[in-house]
Amino acid sequence: MNCLAINKMASKQKIGYKCRIGGVFFLLLASIAGLVAVAVIQDTWKSKEYGLQYGIVIDSGSSRSNVFVYEWPGEKQNETGVVTEKMNCRVSGVSISKMKVDENKDNETLQGFKKCMGEVMKKIPAEKYESTPLFLGATAGMRLLHAENEQRSNEVLVTLREYLTSLPFMFQNASIISGQEEGLYGWITVNYLMGNFLQKNLWNKYVRPQGAQTVGSMDLGGASTQIAFAIQDDLSGPDYMPVKLYGYPYNVYTHSFLCYGKAEADKQGLAEIIQGSPDPSYIMNPCYPIGFNITMKASMIYNTECIKKPPNYDPDQELFFVGSANSEACGNIVRSIFDFETCSSSQCSFNGVEQPPVTGAFMAYAGFFYIARAVLSEGYTVLNDFNASIETFCHTEWQQLKANKDWVSEQHLRTYCYSAHYIFTLLSQGYKFDENTWKDINFASQVKGTSVGWSLGYMLSMSNMLPSEEIDVFPMTDPLFAGLIFLFSALTIVTFVVVFIILIRTCY
Ligand SMILES: *[C@@H]1O[C@H](CO)[C@@H](O)[C@H](O)[C@H]1NC(C)=O
Ligand SMILES: *[C@@H]1O[C@H](CO)[C@@H](O)[C@H](O)[C@H]1NC(C)=O
Ligand SMILES: *[C@@H]1O[C@H](CO)[C@@H](O)[C@H](O)[C@H]1NC(C)=O
Ligand SMILES: *[C@@H]1O[C@H](CO)[C@@H](O)[C@H](O)[C@H]1NC(C)=O
Repeated sequence: MNCLAINKMASKQKIGYKCRIGGVFFLLLASIAGLVAVAVIQDTWKSKEYGLQYGIVIDSGSSRSNVFVYEWPGEKQNETGVVTEKMNCRVSGVSISKMKVDENKDNETLQGFKKCMGEVMKKIPAEKYESTPLFLGATAGMRLLHAENEQRSNEVLVTLREYLTSLPFMFQNASIISGQEEGLYGWITVNYLMGNFLQKNLWNKYVRPQGAQTVGSMDLGGASTQIAFAIQDDLSGPDYMPVKLYGYPYNVYTHSFLCYGKAEADKQGLAEIIQGSPDPSYIMNPCYPIGFNITMKASMIYNTECIKKPPNYDPDQELFFVGSANSEACGNIVRSIFDFETCSSSQCSFNGVEQPPVTGAFMAYAGFFYIARAVLSEGYTVLNDFNASIETFCHTEWQQLKANKDWVSEQHLRTYCYSAHYIFTLLSQGYKFDENTWKDINFASQVKGTSVGWSLGYMLSMSNMLPSEEIDVFPMTDPLFAGLIFLFSALTIVTFVVVFIILIRTCY
């Protein structure tokens, strides 16, 4: 036989073994490559099969509306951290809480909505319009209007619903969300984006991350400010919201302070300053920089539910403010809008509101971020540095300030000495952050490229994308995938056995 002939020739025999071993190794490599390819293709196929999904949330705040478009791979809707922001669009015109006063302004705002929605329609494939949920949530501006004039707030919502229903999307709801919902949804957004609720382990199973810690959330809007953080104790009360997410219970403390958003706090401070000034045509404002002055109509300050109107109030009265740049005096004005004394429980933030001690890391976004960035820096800071930089900021002359911070609009810049004192007082004396806990506050506006706010958490909750039960997803659900994995695994094992036999034969 041929075989015998080969056996006789030692050199030929060696080459034969080499070829066989080479062939077998090739097969081994090929089957491993096959396994990897199947696993990779599985992933790509899946997202092709399900495609991307979209959701739209309109955040109607007290100063403006913003339209957010979110995107996620369809098959992964219950995973944490997979939803990202596709685009956002700022609606021009007045905020919705100022609608139904002047028809021209309403039309301007509706044009603003149309312009943004036109852009949204370009970003979402037309065949997905019908399956894209659309929500509108209104916050503190509308809460105030609802308290002041319920009929007008209802009319605004009716008009908006009419408009939103006419769009090709799956319109869900346009409503005023409560302060607590706003706080809770902000907390959900932060922790969802950071992947704090759920993690895939080595076996592709979902588990709660090791030593899972959630991050607290602090939001500063125009008319209200929210704080929310998870606590260990099972305290209960109106500000404690027990939620169960992915099979794990959290007790979230959350409070929203109406009238303590940036714009309303500004007005409260101005009202204090006016009250202490004898001459309305020359009011020294210690929170404005040297070299700055401005004339305001009284209605710009008093036309809000947050402030009691003075006796013989004239909305058209002109008030003239001159900057006197006195950081210490400004700090005193800021503190006067808080009540740190009243408290009927063991610990309070301010105005008699119960709050357990702050624990863990926090993210401070929206107004907190913009003010901190203008005064000192974004990211993490030290309490004393923050405090010291406020004084420097407040004592910088107006022309110099404009030159130093040319990326901040003048309209905001002139208020930032006050606002910096405001957020410092709110965080240190209100929420009671000290030198140790302040270090854990991250002043930021985004996580992984997605804006942080209540809107994402709201959409996730409203579309049932945050299951309360544990989720268990095994990788081998697809029969083709399982079959291919089985085939290549078998091939790998067979090849290993063959290699083993050849090696034994060569050695003995
Ligand atoms: C709209 O939202 C409000 C407040 O969140 C809720 O009470 C109402 O049930 C919602 N309506 C629909 C149709 O989902
Ligand atoms: C107000 O500011 C302008 C410059 O913006 C300046 O010309 C004017 O003298 C100031 N008025 C007072 C009373 O300080
Ligand atoms: C901030 O600095 C001022 C002096 O500029 C000081 O009086 C105050 O106690 C400081 N606040 C805190 C909370 O450290
Ligand atoms: C997501 O969760 C919802 C409700 O818990 C469930 O009906 C749905 O099938 C889940 N989707 C996926 C892809 O797991």
